[in-house]
Amino acid sequence: MLQGTTIILGVSGGIAVYKAVELLRLLTKAGADVHVVMTQNAQEFMTPLTFQALSGNQVHTDLFNLHQEQEIGHISLADRADLFILAPATANLIGKIAHGLADDLLTTSVMATKAPLLVVPAMNSNMYENPLYLRNEKLLVDSGFHVMEPATGELACGWRGKGKLPAPEQIFEAALSVLATKDLLGCQLLVTAGPTREEIDPVRYLSNYSSGKMGFAIAAVASRRGASVTLVSGPTDLTVPSGVKCVPVCSAEEMRAAVLAEFSAAEVVIKSAAVADYRPVKRAEQKMKKQADELTLPLEKNPDILAELGEQKGERVLVGFAAETERLLAHAADKLKRKNLDLIVANDVSKEGAGFNVDTNIVRFLHANGEVEGFDLMTKEQVAEQLLNRVRLLWQAAQHKIG
Ligand code: CTP
Repeated sequence: MLQGTTIILGVSGGIAVYKAVELLRLLTKAGADVHVVMTQNAQEFMTPLTFQALSGNQVHTDLFNLHQEQEIGHISLADRADLFILAPATANLIGKIAHGLADDLLTTSVMATKAPLLVVPAMNSNMYENPLYLRNEKLLVDSGFHVMEPATGELACGWRGKGKLPAPEQIFEAALSVLATKDLLGCQLLVTAGPTREEIDPVRYLSNYSSGKMGFAIAAVASRRGASVTLVSGPTDLTVPSGVKCVPVCSAEEMRAAVLAEFSAAEVVIKSAAVADYRPVKRAEQKMKKQADELTLPLEKNPDILAELGEQKGERVLVGFAAETERLLAHAADKLKRKNLDLIVANDVSKEGAGFNVDTNIVRFLHANGEVEGFDLMTKEQVAEQLLNRVRLLWQAAQHKIG
């Protein structure tokens, strides 16, 4: 995901330094070449050795260290970085940067970089609310730097309030967002995800193994690429990606109502939800008691949401998913046509790595013009990137028609 990307991680002193270690791990795992610069105070909380071992690069600590400068000078490092992250960024560091001060290695490197700067503040909540701090933060925002909002919770000083360093996963996501090309800016995108649950009685339901991972990956990547994303999701354990509006639903009927309510504003709809085809004719008011040896549960058909959208499509881009266990292309092609889609993502869920509830998928894209594209095993994020590349072209073509 971040192969070929050089990132400088600037770490200033604060109890949250330990979270920067986890952030470093996420960045290197994604393939980034990360160079850590630590302030003197940061080294009071953690030694450079930990960051060195995890980054595989020498940690930079001293402006006047000839050895470090000989290995790789801080100016050339700052110059070739694709992204500069400051996490945790103390009030002191933010104040110095806001006023153009460069009196140590970290602040000098910040001054010397042309890379986008992602600032992740962490401090006591009173400090965070101090007008002097807020003025400095505003100076950074006005200068075009990206400043994350701190999390609220229990602070190291024992207080509760706003000022905690956000979770490393959130900082990682923000970094991906800063790095992403905003090629979907202005696009109103509606995504569905997850399974639906059709209640049998107050304690039982019919459902399927869908985890929602594919739809959530599409929502995250699209939001990162600038789209305005609404995610209508059945029950999942997943965290809603930042910047995404989520409408939680349970049954197919609820999903239909939520999707139809969002449909008029949408320019692109991607239906990756695994909607239950049938629901019990009657939901029992009370828990059903065990009686005969056999039980027959009468079911009735759920509405086909995507087919309904296909009928009212207009100039919208409509994308469906087809999870099959046999005759993949024939079934997917039939759904593409029957539901009036522009593209359908077909995956054989009986293949290893392509089923429900895994992080990977093996897909084919079937286009309305008959073109079929095949792909090897990819992560669901990579599938989302590839899918959104095609969606972008379809969306632009549709806008051309409208314009
Ligand atoms: N879909 C939908 N509403 C339904 C069933 C499916 O919107 N009631 C959508 C899914 O979100 C997916 C596409 O239609 O994008 C194909 O879903 P799938 O379950 O594979 O196909 P079905 O049309 O249900 O056909 P079958 O069950 O016969 O495979």
